[in-house]
Amino acid sequence: MDLKEMVGKEACKHIKSGMTVGLGTGSTAYHMVAEVGRMIKEENLQITGVTTSTQTLIQARELGIPLASIDEVDHIDITIDGADEVDPQFLGIKGGGAALLYEKIVATYSDKVIWIVDSSKMVENLGNFPLPVEVIPFGSQQIFNIFVTRGYAPTFRKTSDGEFLHTDSGNYIIDLHLDVIADPHALAEELIHMTGVVEHGLFLDMTNLVIVGENDGPKTLIN
Ligand code: A5P
Repeated sequence: MDLKEMVGKEACKHIKSGMTVGLGTGSTAYHMVAEVGRMIKEENLQITGVTTSTQTLIQARELGIPLASIDEVDHIDITIDGADEVDPQFLGIKGGGAALLYEKIVATYSDKVIWIVDSSKMVENLGNFPLPVEVIPFGSQQIFNIFVTRGYAPTFRKTSDGEFLHTDSGNYIIDLHLDVIADPHALAEELIHMTGVVEHGLFLDMTNLVIVGENDGPKTLIN
């Protein structure tokens, strides 16, 4: 079985009837959402889903998963999502699929967060994966220029047509090519206080359960 499918299915074992479930975004979360759809059809699972992107919203609707917006639910029991990099302290980078803002909001207001990754995502230090920073288009070139002077090797994320990629909130993404992030908490503080920055892809101290897909089966890591 594909490793992403394996961890997607494994994570669904944590979902119980009656829960409100945050549904993550990406190629790994896709398998989790598919499994939730199957459990609803075949096992009469009763849940309410809260999606983290238009992409997941479309998939969940197609599967007939009952949905509510984050502002309609009183709490979210559990959120299951992918990640781009996870270090030994369970600090992570997310946003490779440009859904970091909604993903972080949904994770923040969830009682429990589970990340599902294949083993290639587990790293000693964050930073090899470009760190996404979501910025308001107005003034974004100014932020970009500051990133250049700080040596962060920024690139605006573009679509395959060469246009600026717009997030679900209509913002731009600037990817920072940092190689190694020596102090993720310090960088997170720096970024979030820059005027025009909406959010960044450092997800710190947000999860204590990571399910890693390995060739001999899924491994659940608890921090
Ligand atoms: C979406 O914006 C991301 O945060 C994804 O959760 C992350 O990029 C992992 O995606 P894959 O499962 O496709 O690797």
